[in-house]
Amino acid sequence: MRISRVTVPEFREKKSRGERVAVLTAYDATMARLLDRGGVDALLVGDSLGMVVLGYESTVPVTLDDMIHHTRAVVRGSSRALVIADMPFLSYQTSTADAVRNAGRLIQEGAAAVKIEGGQAVLDAVERLVDIGIPVMGHLGLLPQSVNQIGGYRKQATTSAEADRLLSDARALERAGAFAIVLESIPADVAATVTKAVKVPTVGIGAGPDCDGQVLVSYDMLGLFDGFVPSFVKKYANLADEVVSATRTYVEEVKQQQFPPRAESVADIDRSRR
Ligand code: KIV
Repeated sequence: MRISRVTVPEFREKKSRGERVAVLTAYDATMARLLDRGGVDALLVGDSLGMVVLGYESTVPVTLDDMIHHTRAVVRGSSRALVIADMPFLSYQTSTADAVRNAGRLIQEGAAAVKIEGGQAVLDAVERLVDIGIPVMGHLGLLPQSVNQIGGYRKQATTSAEADRLLSDARALERAGAFAIVLESIPADVAATVTKAVKVPTVGIGAGPDCDGQVLVSYDMLGLFDGFVPSFVKKYANLADEVVSATRTYVEEVKQQQFPPRAESVADIDRSRR
């Protein structure tokens, strides 16, 4: 039986049915396959891959080519989840034409939608992309691509003026046609207000329990990333310890000549035969 992918309309309509959406990031085919088997509604090829798999200090150095490379892998590895690709820094801010060209590349590689950070500043791009048939997920609150402007990864919308601006950005993104909005690192009550105010699903990360769904960086929730992990992340596993422990055992067995066992090795050459 062929299992079809979650579509953008199905994802959006989960809100009206009162069904929460569960989203995780993925960057490669193997992990995408496992998370897909776990039943996530969507896989986000986040530009967090810059930190998680490429070893950068922020998402700023991530290029469109990086995103295309990893989006292809996630599409190949998964069969059911909606695949959303992040548009990296400078791939949509320079002009609407650049946004169209670059989002188009990610869609041609198999993503069903793209994600763009920002509110008022990106509305033209969002409107144009949606107009030409490219679904867009918005992203408000902490915008990691603006880390140099913010000066760190800190909570946003903590004053009533900032909360009001975020609410009007969310409404504007909805009007521009965004099918969902990520709310990152904002107070839970602000996220709850935004969630009530818009018809499209809000997907929270560090934004409390009242969003329409949640997204986490998969390596964080699996306990696989050994760098900084935000305090709101729940670790559902501790894979980093498992990897280190398995590696230590392997190294020890190789040094002690316990692996590979002689009995399981390919038989010696039969020298009696030519
Ligand atoms: O890049 C990313 O992983 C993200 C999520 C944290 C929402 O944007």
